[in-house]
Amino acid sequence: MTPVDVVILAAGKGTRMKSKTPKVLHPLSGRPLVLYSVEAAAQVSSRVPVLVVGHAENEVRTAVGDRVRYATQAEQLGTGHAVAQARTLLEGQSDHVIVIYGDMPLLRAETLQALYAAQCSSAGPFTMLTQITLNPRGFGRIVRDAAGSVLAIVEEADATPEQKAIQEVNLGIYCFRADWLWGHLDQIPLSAKGEYYLTDLVAIAVGQGEQITAITLDDPLEAIGINTRVHLAEAEAALRQRINRELMRSGVTMMDPAATYIHPGVQIGRDTLILPNTIIEGPTVIGEDCVIGPNTVIRASHIADGCEVRSSVVEDSRLDQGVRVGPFARLRRGAHLEEDVYMGNFGEVKGSRLGRGVKMGHFSYVGDADVGEETNIGAGAITCNYDGVDKHPTTIGKRVFVGSSTMLVAPLTLGDGARTGAGSVVTRDVPADTLVYGVPAKPKKLPESEDS
Ligand code: UD1
Ligand code: CA
Repeated sequence: MTPVDVVILAAGKGTRMKSKTPKVLHPLSGRPLVLYSVEAAAQVSSRVPVLVVGHAENEVRTAVGDRVRYATQAEQLGTGHAVAQARTLLEGQSDHVIVIYGDMPLLRAETLQALYAAQCSSAGPFTMLTQITLNPRGFGRIVRDAAGSVLAIVEEADATPEQKAIQEVNLGIYCFRADWLWGHLDQIPLSAKGEYYLTDLVAIAVGQGEQITAITLDDPLEAIGINTRVHLAEAEAALRQRINRELMRSGVTMMDPAATYIHPGVQIGRDTLILPNTIIEGPTVIGEDCVIGPNTVIRASHIADGCEVRSSVVEDSRLDQGVRVGPFARLRRGAHLEEDVYMGNFGEVKGSRLGRGVKMGHFSYVGDADVGEETNIGAGAITCNYDGVDKHPTTIGKRVFVGSSTMLVAPLTLGDGARTGAGSVVTRDVPADTLVYGVPAKPKKLPESEDS
């Protein structure tokens, strides 16, 4: 195969979104719509795609960055005019040019590869992508001759009743022979609406006796173009179904896939069960034999095998094997729960390591702390890590017993085997194997002083 460039059209205003945000930047499963087209382009060509921008150009450029080359369409004078803006960048650079839209995020790279392959083995100037459908949604109808060659695209407004009954529609996705495209764009006439329609290239080619190939899409979901927020929700549902089916086929159980929201790229191991109303955002890796949900949000986290996360929120965190969390726990940036940690209801952990086997059952906050293995954090105990100006660290040793409602005023260190009485406010370091209690907490030597 020969070098191919991809042009992504994204200059349109997207008026029907009724939004301050440019249409192609609306998120679909957490990422701007246009990035789906950019990624599909990257899978069909190693050349950096060209994004045609116009409306809200600066915002789009900021969001997309240097993944693409940019061509500016200052005035939106139609799809043909939009492609022409890429000409100075691309003419003479590649043998083929694929044109796609920035608002058709479900189009698969495999489909573009098939389109490209069809054009490579065709003698005609371009190959187009069509869809057989009972719901033409106002798309142009494809008129073919008896031999199957495309004769014309008839827009719905101009179609006869017989033509309206045609079930094959134009999706607006094409693969062109580059020299033919750049040689004929100028011949597109100005339409009555004052636009240059890319679709007019069909009539131009057929008029020159050229043969146009069309390949049809198998999966109708790929053709969802986003014009309104209703379409956006339809695309969310379709993408969700695509992602969830792939995960279920790979061995993940979902009680209710329609209520399970997993972003692209999230990895989940076999025999893990995902319960309803669970949102898992990337980049996240979840191991085997876990139970996640219901009512759980996980973002940018690593969860090892055999973990349970119930009705909780986990962000930028790491859970080692056999960790149980929730219900109603919150893990924030930099939480690391080592093997077999148990964190029950209404706990919060931020920027801390909980060593193997730590138990933190009820109503606790641990922030900027390092907690040794087998330590017990009593109900309501918290690290007072913020003095109103700065954050301070807390170090808690192994097998420490932190009594209920203990306030650990950081910076603070508790040695291995230390204990704190219920309600104590600990302001000074506690040596190993020492009991402190009271406000402010004072030490008693263990075990001799226990009965005084
Ligand atoms: C186009 C096709 C139609 C096809 C339909 C499928 C034309 C004339 N018609 O119609 O046959 O059935 O797509 O979706 O091509 N854009 C620009 N600059 C412009 C105009 C559009 O960048 O000046 C971009 C838009 O941002 C959008 C895409 O091109 O991403 C499609 O434009 P749109 O106006 O939605 O075309 P349709 O009317 O849907
Ligand atoms: Ca459209």
